[in-house]
Amino acid sequence: MARRRAFLQLTLRIIHTIDEMRASSRSVRAESRTIGFVPTMGALHAGHIALMEHARHECDHVVASIFVNPTQFDRLDDLEKYPRTLDADVEACSQAGVDVVFAPSANEMYPAGLRTNIRASAVGSILEGASRPGHFDGVATVVALLFSAVEPDVAFFGAKDYQQTLVVRDMARDHAPGVRIDVRPTVRGADGLALSSRNVRLSADDRVRALAIPRGLDLARRMFVDGTIDADSISSRVRETLTEQGLEVDYVHVGRPSDLSEVATCEAGDVILIAARVGDVRLIDNAILDR
Ligand code: PAF
Repeated sequence: MARRRAFLQLTLRIIHTIDEMRASSRSVRAESRTIGFVPTMGALHAGHIALMEHARHECDHVVASIFVNPTQFDRLDDLEKYPRTLDADVEACSQAGVDVVFAPSANEMYPAGLRTNIRASAVGSILEGASRPGHFDGVATVVALLFSAVEPDVAFFGAKDYQQTLVVRDMARDHAPGVRIDVRPTVRGADGLALSSRNVRLSADDRVRALAIPRGLDLARRMFVDGTIDADSISSRVRETLTEQGLEVDYVHVGRPSDLSEVATCEAGDVILIAARVGDVRLIDNAILDR
């Protein structure tokens, strides 16, 4: 194991420029090897590592990007507070068997500022998009730029950011049709809280209160299994459990899986999505209603 680690560390390459990234991917492709890509903003946790390990399993060559993308933050304080842990992240990528870490600067990604913006598809204007104006335009834009630098065959995303996966799928269909989008299940802590880079900012008390979110999702699933199909009844009950724990609810939404359009009567496969603030940390999570 130690020898394998030493080997992985020796072979991991860190690339900072788009030209070098493209050249690296093209030499991999010239050998007919497939490229799997895990885009991240760093502050890596077990959810990211699971994506990287899955990519390692599926593809011949794995690239992970670490870039805190300024254009997807609607608040400067949120951007400034975002944890930056590059050394630990590179080490974690190495352990997960990543071949290349692409860690560009903001100037490398946006040399002339943001001149041409991709506008996210309609699904990006509701929920997170309504609460954080411009967020999904920033995500769609940076993922398109990253795809053009890395030129992957497959890109891996976590289901925790369900709405993001729909925005990215639409963007890829229009701008990067050669890239397959693979959405992997949410990774949770032993207590059920979905892993997120923001969790480190929760106090011990707030972390306990945050458990109202996965519990709310469980409650919604149980209500559906027990026969409640009225979406309002489900979301009102979930909202109550969140506010009882002192969470400030942004939304509890039941939507169709393909575009998150609001449903009145739930069907198997619909998605329930929650966004709530615990102290000053905003968390999101979701679950599929299924029998
Ligand atoms: O999910 C994230 O971490 C980011 O939104 C992404 C996809 C890396 C784009 O910056």
